[in-house]
Order: sequence, then C-alpha cells, then structure tokens
Amino acid sequence: MKTIFITRKLPEEAVSGLREMFEVDMWPSEDEVPPKEVLIEKAQTAHALWTNVADTVDRDVIKAGENLEVIANLAVGYNNIDIEAAKQRGIMVTNTPGVLTETTADLAFTLMLAAARQTGQAERFLREGKWTSWSPMGFTGMDIFGATLGIVGMGRIGEGVARRAAGFDMDVLYHNRTRKPEAESMFGFRYAELDDLLEQSDFVVILTPLTEETRGMIGERELGLMKKTAILVNAARGGIVDEEALYEALKNGDIWAAGLDVFEGEPIGSDHQLLTLPNVTALPHIGSASVKTRLAMMQLNAEDIEAVFSGRAPENRVV
Ligand code: NAP
Ligand code: GLV
Repeated sequence: MKTIFITRKLPEEAVSGLREMFEVDMWPSEDEVPPKEVLIEKAQTAHALWTNVADTVDRDVIKAGENLEVIANLAVGYNNIDIEAAKQRGIMVTNTPGVLTETTADLAFTLMLAAARQTGQAERFLREGKWTSWSPMGFTGMDIFGATLGIVGMGRIGEGVARRAAGFDMDVLYHNRTRKPEAESMFGFRYAELDDLLEQSDFVVILTPLTEETRGMIGERELGLMKKTAILVNAARGGIVDEEALYEALKNGDIWAAGLDVFEGEPIGSDHQLLTLPNVTALPHIGSASVKTRLAMMQLNAEDIEAVFSGRAPENRVV
C-alpha cells in the first residue's frame, strides 16, 4: 500500500479521503516541525511527502526517498524544496497556486494599511493604558488613498493587490521580468524598471518568488532609492529583502515604515532586531491563513497526491 507522510497535523477533513485509499502517517503536532532525522527516516519508506513552508526538503531528504514519487507542498512557493535534486531523482513536486491568491492579496493590503496607519502601534498604546487624551498629531500616518503603489512581482497575487488598489484610487506601477500588456491596458497598471519603481512609489510591495535571482533583490542601494515617506511590504519571502539593510533604513528614517509577513529565518524570536523598531508591523507568515483557503490548499495537495498514485498527471506540478 502507498504511504504518505504528512509533516504537520492537518484537519481530519483534509486527509480523510486519502486515508480510505492509502496509509497516512501524520506528524502529531500542529506547530512543531519534524526534525531533519525524522524527515529522512520517513522519506525512506514514504511514497509521498506532504510538506509545508517550514520544512526544509533538501538533497539529503530527497536522496533518502527510495520509493518517493511526489512531494506535495502546502504553499504556492517551493523555495523550501531542492527542486533540482527532486528533478534528478524523477520525484514530482506539486504546490497550491491560485486558491490562495485573493486571501494573500488581502493580507498584503492589510500590511499596507496597518503600516501606513500604525494600527499595531496604536493598539499596543491603547492596551497599555497610555491613551490619556485625543492628540492632534498623535499616530498620524501616511495616506493610502491616491498614493502610488509599486508592485515587484506582478503575478497572481501581485495582480490581486493591484486590483484592490483601484478602490483606493492608487496609481499602480509594476516590475516583472516580462511585461503584461493585457493587464496594462485592462487595468491601467504601468510597467517600470525596478529603480524607477522604487523612486516613484509610496508603497513598494514585494511579491516575487524567492529564487537565486531575487535573493537580496532589495538591499541597501534599493532602499536608498525609495522615498523617505515610503512603506515597504514584503508578503513574499524573507531573503528577498536584506534584513540588515532594512533595519538600518528604518532606523535612520531612510524609509518610513515596513510591513512584513515573512522573514529570512522563520520563526523569528521576540528579540529579532526588526521588532525593536516602532515603524515595523510584523506578522508570523499568515498570508494565506483563512479557513476556506487553507482547506482549499489542502484539497489541491490531496488531489495531486491521489493523481500521482493513480498514474495520472497532477494538476499543480512544479517539476
Ligand atoms: P506568480 O503568479 O508566479 O507571480 C510571481 C511574479 O514574480 C511573476 O509575475 C514573475 O514575473 C515575478 N518574478 C519572478 N522572478 C522575478 C524577478 N527576478 N524579478 C522580477 N519579477 C520576478 O506567484 P504568486 O502566486 O503570485 O506568488 C508569489 C509569491 O508569493 C510565491 O512565490 C510565494 O513565495 C509568496 N507567497 C507568500 C505567501 C505568504 O503567506 N506570505 C502566500 C502565498 C505566496 P516574471 O516571471 O515575468 O518575472
Ligand atoms: C506561502 O507562503 C506560500 O507560498 O503559499
């Protein structure tokens, strides 16, 4: 019988269908990541690994997968998996594109609003009993309405954010490796080279995948091009933005604020230097975290595992 190792405890409704047909071995914790030795040990016997962004599926894990046919990743991003190693061993990798687009775009927009209007800081102030009177210039932030939004990585989620921006009467610039003439004419988005986008935008939202090309894409030089009043949002992956350079830029007032859902080494501790800055709004990688979306992502993974085991092509194959 085919066996599936699931690296995190998932809701029973997401796995019950697979249980009827295959042997399902599920890690008992919702929060703890199985250590690398466990991943290797499980990979030795499993035909499928059902992983997520917190699992590092490196060459050692993949090499151990004698019987491994598919790695289904509970995310659209798959930078946590050594794709080259999987390809070499003929192991398929699947992901969850599309179903999380709107939920993640909502979260990216939430970060824009929260960072611009300092809602996290203001709420902490209130909860700490510091609200003694209405203040004329207290918690005055930046306007979203009518501002210029620059999207780096105008893919599915980027377009979702840009569509939301229309309701805020924003002017939208985008940067990709390839232009999107259809989106430009349909929605009025304008293409810009990265440097021009950084110079002109009031909000810069990062939504590219993490690749060798995008790693460190936003560093000291790029942050230096941004307006002093600008806000950077990273809802893609830590590692695309150089965190040390971001810390310096925020501390020195070279940019105004940042909204971050992702970090270079996750999870970050409460002593992370970015958390010492009042102008950082930080979230624990919750971009796709709505009940409906997470269940839809799980369904895509489950369907793709079943497809592979039945000799059919999975819908969402990365390699
Ligand atoms: P997508 O549709 O593939 O969009 C990615 C966009 O990035 C594409 O338009 C691509 O255009 C652009 N891009 C790729 N490499 C680039 C480069 N070197 N320079 C400039 N642009 C580049 O993917 P998506 O579904 O929107 O997801 C985007 C990313 O968001 C995922 O890879 C994932 O890491 C992240 N994500 C995070 C969360 C979260 O919880 N925070 C949730 C979902 C997704 P070109 O190929 O034309 O350059
Ligand atoms: C989440 O980070 C994803 O890539 O889906």
